[in-house]
Amino acid sequence: MHADPHSANPRPLRARKAGALKGLFEVPGDKSISQRALILGALAAGETPISGLLESEDVLSTAGALRALGADISRQADGRWRVVGARWTSPAAPLDFGNSGTGSRLVMGAVAGLPITATFTGDASLRSRPMARVVDPLTQVGATYEGQGPKALMPLTLHGAREANAIDVQVTVASAQVKSALLLAALYADGVSRIGQAQLTRDHTEKMLAAFGAKIAVDPSEQGESITLVGKTGLKGIAVEVPRDPSSAAFALVAALIVPGSEISLPAILLNPRRIGLIETLLEMGADIAVTGRRVSSGEEIGDLIVRHSRLTGVVVPAARAPSMIDEYPILSVAAAFAEGRTVMMGLEELRVKESDRLAAILAGLAANGVEAHESENNLTVQGMRKVPGGGTVATHMDHRIAMAFLTMGMASDKPITVDDVAMIATSFPDYEAKMRALGAELVAP
Ligand code: S3P
Repeated sequence: MHADPHSANPRPLRARKAGALKGLFEVPGDKSISQRALILGALAAGETPISGLLESEDVLSTAGALRALGADISRQADGRWRVVGARWTSPAAPLDFGNSGTGSRLVMGAVAGLPITATFTGDASLRSRPMARVVDPLTQVGATYEGQGPKALMPLTLHGAREANAIDVQVTVASAQVKSALLLAALYADGVSRIGQAQLTRDHTEKMLAAFGAKIAVDPSEQGESITLVGKTGLKGIAVEVPRDPSSAAFALVAALIVPGSEISLPAILLNPRRIGLIETLLEMGADIAVTGRRVSSGEEIGDLIVRHSRLTGVVVPAARAPSMIDEYPILSVAAAFAEGRTVMMGLEELRVKESDRLAAILAGLAANGVEAHESENNLTVQGMRKVPGGGTVATHMDHRIAMAFLTMGMASDKPITVDDVAMIATSFPDYEAKMRALGAELVAP
């Protein structure tokens, strides 16, 4: 599916064996929550002050698109932003979402419910990702679209409904983006909509909609859960404090586990139960991760982590856990390579439609560095040998998480590991390199 796209200015980087990693690692704001804070703020009446916003390329792309739709968005200081919502109007030019699947798909949802037309585009990676999974169900509110081919690839033009219909949709893919797009479209429908999903994907949209005053209820159902939302009740801006991103924390966390002698602390990490599958899995593998100071911030659970180098053992990761760690399989594969014995990760079909075909990218990266692994029927098996030969060059395919995962591997492998392009890391974690070097990581130009 992915035609091996490249970033405009590829920059290779090499990680070599580091001494113990030590210190405080302050992860930037959660990407999913940052995107949602901007989008809901742009739809809401009044002002939404945001603190801790992730200032990464994906989030900035979304901010640009929301401005083009009519919202007033300004940066006040580091991580402090102010959004004033507006009645959205059809933008004059295509909305360019860069690499951001979340930004583009959630904005598609809101546009589908409104009587406006917008064209969505993005970089080579985003233009290769299927949009049909989002826009097909959105036609039920009355929206129509023109995309490229049967997968409705971008550039895609979406004509929102004149009068949005209430919907009753069972979402069949394990995607929080699809669920969220439908919820945002339903905001503008006459009457009560119901959206069901079998897999319990991240629930930040539901939580934030409730906090912005939407009439939303979530109930367990025979098939996962069922969300009802009363349309046309309006949203009201509120202050949002964005917690730190567990998916970005994951790279430093695993680095500390695999580099001997390491001990790092990660304060105020988002610990939403639907985002902590990686921590659960690593604990089962024998990781020394202490969680303290559990508290609630802006309606989300957070806590402080202390992570120490650990002897890991391979485990079986059930498919049911995949939604709660869907972005963490590249870095889990790295931890698995340094573990003793086999790790089997089940139910990974969604990895094929991420920023790259992540299943293929992980397998190629492991093979390039002497780690035995194979895939069958969407299950990935990694043979852990407690050490990794390294020495390979990894193709990142415009995927930030593939780049960060294999740099992490190079911090503990026998020979250095080179990734072909680290430019995309800026989509989610602009300070990654500086922050890892501050812990003691050795990242050098090849
Ligand atoms: C996200 C949902 C997930 C995840 C992505 C962020 C979100 O994608 O991989 O990084 O913020 O809703 P899917 O909805 O495609 O699973």
